Amino acid sequence: MTPASSVLFVCLGNICRSPLARVIFTHLAAQRGVLERLHVDSCGTGPWHVGKGADGRSIEVAARHQIKLAHTARQLDPTADFLKFGWLIAMDRQNRDDLLHAGAPRDRVYLMRSFDPRLAGEPDHRLDVPDPYYGESDGFERVYDMLDASCDGLLHRMLRES
Ligand code: 4NP
Repeated sequence: MTPASSVLFVCLGNICRSPLARVIFTHLAAQRGVLERLHVDSCGTGPWHVGKGADGRSIEVAARHQIKLAHTARQLDPTADFLKFGWLIAMDRQNRDDLLHAGAPRDRVYLMRSFDPRLAGEPDHRLDVPDPYYGESDGFERVYDMLDASCDGLLHRMLRES
């Protein structure tokens, strides 16, 4: 796969937001019959949950939308990941800063919600996917909606440009 058709979803722990983004994006790409043209992965900037499965609340919200979330958390590998992935999708501004600090090429780094057409023109501080880890479980449903709309916009953009 070329970098132009490879997307990496990035959050902090790689157990809540980015694994959910990966399976939603994969689901949408499969529905459109384009999954075999794409490479999709996720990672976290932090090391704490490496090797673990996704948070149970992410698994539940995915299941409510008929999507299976199988996952093993991994940490960002700057050397390999910045070569392989042309689309580095940060869930929030902190994740974006961490990617840039780790040496990510600036023109490959995006905020996830910048692809939500309903938010066109909004400033960056309105575009975070909030970290649901310490919140209530309805936070995961809100995160799901944000990711679903954003993944759809991102998929259209990638297909246009790859
Ligand atoms: P995520 O959520 O970045 O969406 O996977 C988090 C999960 C765990 C922690 C922080 C965020 N943590 O500090 O352990």
